[in-house]
Formats: sequence, C-alpha cells, structure tokens
Amino acid sequence: MDDQRIANYTAALQFAEEQVAATIQRHPDYFPIYTTDGQWFHQGELWTDWTGGFFAGMMWKFHQRTSDAAWRERAEHYSRLLEHRQVDRNVHDLGFIFLNTYLPWYQLTGDERLHQILITAGRTLAKRFIEPGQYLCSFIGLDSLFIDIMMNVPLIFYAANEADNEELRRIATAHCRTTRDRLVRSDGSTAHEGIFDLRTGEFLRQSTHQGLRDDSAWARGLAWSLYGYSKCYGLTGREEFLDVSERNASYWLSHLPEDNIPYWDFDADLSQPLPWGPQKDSSAAAIAASGLLDLARQTPSAEKATTYRNTALAMLDVLASPPYLAVRDSGWEGILKHGVYHTKKNLGVDESVMWGDFFFVEALTKAIGSAGK
Ligand code: GLY
Repeated sequence: MDDQRIANYTAALQFAEEQVAATIQRHPDYFPIYTTDGQWFHQGELWTDWTGGFFAGMMWKFHQRTSDAAWRERAEHYSRLLEHRQVDRNVHDLGFIFLNTYLPWYQLTGDERLHQILITAGRTLAKRFIEPGQYLCSFIGLDSLFIDIMMNVPLIFYAANEADNEELRRIATAHCRTTRDRLVRSDGSTAHEGIFDLRTGEFLRQSTHQGLRDDSAWARGLAWSLYGYSKCYGLTGREEFLDVSERNASYWLSHLPEDNIPYWDFDADLSQPLPWGPQKDSSAAAIAASGLLDLARQTPSAEKATTYRNTALAMLDVLASPPYLAVRDSGWEGILKHGVYHTKKNLGVDESVMWGDFFFVEALTKAIGSAGK
C-alpha cells in the first residue's frame, strides 16, 4: 500500500476518533443507531435494538490502534453498559454486540469473567434455534430467518470452540447450511428473509423487509452474507462456508457500479426517484470492504486474494473522502454519509448509520495493519 493511501486512511481514522469523542461528550451513555439530518439523538423508531456493539467496538479499535488509555476507559465503560444483553432473548444480534466488545476486552486481559460473558451470549443466541426448520429465527418471529444472522452466528461457533460444546456447533453449522440452501441463490446473490412452516419446518418463500423486492439483492444483506460466511470459515475451517463467501464475493464484484459504491439494492431501478432509485448505501460498501479483506486473507487462491483486496481498497478510497466522509460537513455527527437503514419505513435513509461507521473504521484499521504484508 503506498504512502498516500496510508496517509488518507490514517486521516480518516483520526476524523473518526474526533466524531466518536464528540458524540460521547454530547450524548453520554447513549448508543446511536442512525442519524436524522446528521444528528444521532432523535426520537426516531429503533425498529430493533442491535447496534450498541458498534459504538463501543469503535472505541476498542481506537484503543488497539493508538494504545490511548482514554479510549480503553471509554471502551470498557460502554461495554459494561451492554453486559446485561448477554441474556437478551429478544434480538438475533448478540454477535454484533459481544464480538465487537467483550471479545477484544477478553483478548486484551485474559479475564475469565469476560470469557464467560461471551460464552453465555453465544448460548443465549443458540436458544433461537428452530429444530423443524434448522435455523436461528430473526426478531420478527419464529418462522423468519434473516441473512443478517450470518454475521451473528460466529458468536455461537466461538462459544462452541471455547466451551468445546458439540451441541452449539451443531446448531451453528445447521443454521449456516439452511441459510446457504434457502437464502443464497445460485448466482451468489442473497434474499433478506426466508419464511418457514413452523410445524413441519418446510421452507415456504423468500421475503424482504429492507430490500427492494422479495427476489431482489439487497446490498447490505449480501455484504452480511459475504463477511459472515468468511468469518464462519475462519472459525471452523469448513470449506463449504468459504465457498458461499466466494460466491457472494463474485456477485458483489461483478455487479458493483463503476464508482465502487453499491446502490442500496443491486436490483434498484435507477430511473426511479429517490429513495427507491439510485440511493447509495455506504454502509454496505464498508461491511463488504472489511469482509473482502477477511476473505483475501483466507482464500487459498493468490489471484482471488489480490482481486478481493484491490476491490476492498478501491471501495475504501472512495469512502475515505467527501462526499462519503463527513469531514467537510460541520455539525454532521456521523463519520460516513449516504448510508441507509430501512427504506420502506423511512428510517435513516441517506444518513449516517452506526454499523457503516464501525465497519469503515474496522476496514481502514485492517488495511493499514496489513500494509506491506
Ligand atoms: N437489520 C440489520 C440491518 O439493517 O442490516
């Protein structure tokens, strides 16, 4: 990676630190989800409470990069505020919450209490398993499987490995296979949701909440799948998961627009007015960039590794400057502009979203960390 790129990414990370520090100061102990007109604090609907680990997770990333004790203190404080979520049965997002907070904290300290919190959170998530359909159900209902859960199931594999628990491993493996067979299409694109007959476990249909159509390719869902299967491969060594991530990557690479930032849905009709038409989703780009860097490290093909890494860096180059980086927008509280949360509900459309900021920070940190390797 050349010096100019390292300098740009470092400047973006410094800006990210400033934005997070300012948000902490303005809204102490508040976990933002999405902005409204660039402001994190508002009375907008949460839809579901799933993003606390991203805000605290950025604080851990800043501490890891700078060794600044103030970031560690903030990271520990915000992580503690999430501890009670280890037994939260209402969300399917415990991986997002705990792998980005208690895992780095445990890795830093070796503290067994933190280790046990991670394992408990993994066991809690596994309780969402629906035996007849062989999947972990989404927060929507027992009959609903989300592609997003692929980024959370690594917490169950982690707990299975740490506790040497075959039952947790069975559940996580079955979930990955059901998602592959029901939500991942043969061209590598993904559906957002699958609906099952609860009694028989029969798969009924693909569906969506945040994508354009039931049969479309919601960009963020594809990014969740690409990165989720890559993580699951890392935790299990199962090539069947690497294969899914590479199929997702192949769809991503062959459908990315020329400016390297996806529209919110790969099937969006660009002739339609916003927000249904040519609305970008910077958060999908940030997640996929981090996922592609992960996949580049894991794929046995040197040629694919180069392609994945170069695409990730090309996406990060665009995100790390305006109009995506909010560096010229004084008063804008987020880091990345032009993300989308939920189009149909009109939540966080063309705004900053907490997961976009987190995965942008994660990807930049990874890219700089692996420079020259
Ligand atoms: N439901 C998680 C997401 O918005 O990606």
